Amino acid sequence: MSRKFLTTLCLVAIVTMLLAGCVPAAPAAPAAPAAPAAPAAPAAPAAAQATNKVEFFSWWTAGGEADGLKAMLDLYKKTYPNVEVINAAVAGGAGTNAKAVLSTRLTGGDPPDAFQLHAGLEVEKYEPAKYLQPLDALYTSEGWDKIFPKDLISLLKYQDHFWGVPVNIHRANVMWYSQKVFSDNNLTAPTSWDEFFKVADALKAKGIVPLVIGTKEGWEAGHTFETILISKLGADGYKGLWTGTTPWTDPKVTDALETFKKVMTYANTDYSALTWSDAAQYLVDGKGGMHIMGDWTDGWFISKNYKDYGYAPVPGTQGIFDALSDSFASAKGAKDQVNLDNWLKLAGSKAGQEAFNPKKGSICARTDCDAKLFDAYLQSAMKDWQSNVIVPSVVHGAAAVEKWATVYKDILNTFATKGDVKATQDALQQACKDNNVCK
Ligand code: GAL
Repeated sequence: MSRKFLTTLCLVAIVTMLLAGCVPAAPAAPAAPAAPAAPAAPAAPAAAQATNKVEFFSWWTAGGEADGLKAMLDLYKKTYPNVEVINAAVAGGAGTNAKAVLSTRLTGGDPPDAFQLHAGLEVEKYEPAKYLQPLDALYTSEGWDKIFPKDLISLLKYQDHFWGVPVNIHRANVMWYSQKVFSDNNLTAPTSWDEFFKVADALKAKGIVPLVIGTKEGWEAGHTFETILISKLGADGYKGLWTGTTPWTDPKVTDALETFKKVMTYANTDYSALTWSDAAQYLVDGKGGMHIMGDWTDGWFISKNYKDYGYAPVPGTQGIFDALSDSFASAKGAKDQVNLDNWLKLAGSKAGQEAFNPKKGSICARTDCDAKLFDAYLQSAMKDWQSNVIVPSVVHGAAAVEKWATVYKDILNTFATKGDVKATQDALQQACKDNNVCK
């Protein structure tokens, strides 16, 4: 539940050892109707406009992700028609390519005006004190400290400053399935791994790929595995992996690896050549049964006009919401500051978030968006975000510093193919030690 995100944040802070002591705060209020209604439209343009351009950087290039971004950019263009909008997106799920390009641009003194940044410890990668603009003044002037959930606010604060404006909340632990395939075979969505393997056997017997996955970009195995870790360790056990209170040597981690290894025996054989959306296409084509992926898949299905999908928490993760949030940040010395500020205001506004999220396949970071604008899946995510236990995604920047998350992803990507449980568990434990969280 939102209120647990605070705990999450503590954990997040501890992970880096950068925050010397995250004081457990009172449970955050559920994301119920938010405080003062924020302006429905972005603020008026600021007085002096230095340039007539503004450049946006993200990894949203296709499907619902591109559609959502376009909707927000269109709103910007409509509000500020004299400003040239440059969409400098770099393709690659989870920022596979974009993050490296962004680092080079930041350190090379050629930053885009606004860029995508996950809420949480990912910001550490970009040396915020050196390269990024603190956005505290905007938080105050726009009333964001009251309109974003308290636990999200805590996640966004790093070294006592806000560095990004959150545009959404995504859920990572969703199992998508083909309703037609399931009903044709009298199956229901599995709620445990035992049920999962029974369903998988039934599908395999019919020549349908039970579990579709694509690992081409190197992060998807880690994504799938973090949801299995959550199912085996529970919310607190999983969070403890990133803070040092759960040892990576725990037999439940072994169990999670054994489970993932078995899951992969039910996967499409071409997984290493496919991206997450290529894999999702198996469902659209009626050739695959289930797919574990974040809820940007909902936006992608919408963009494909595919409606025959069902959704459920990944088996064993009922009542837990594996969360991440995309924000927009900006660099010191941005070239188009006035236009940039107007963008950040729009990105944090109700109008901006209502334009973006229904297409993107995410829920608003704000607490006052109109639920009627969202489809059935997203409405269910809104409810779960308020009632579930929240845990931070590691693959999507919330739970650990980027260098640890990267090593974790690489280890799991190798595991998906090689399946060496002992070597993998040892490597995961070593990565924790290398990041000074485990002894
Ligand atoms: C995540 C990001 C999402 C979505 C996804 C797949 O890291 O937060 O917004 O883009 O990657 O690319």
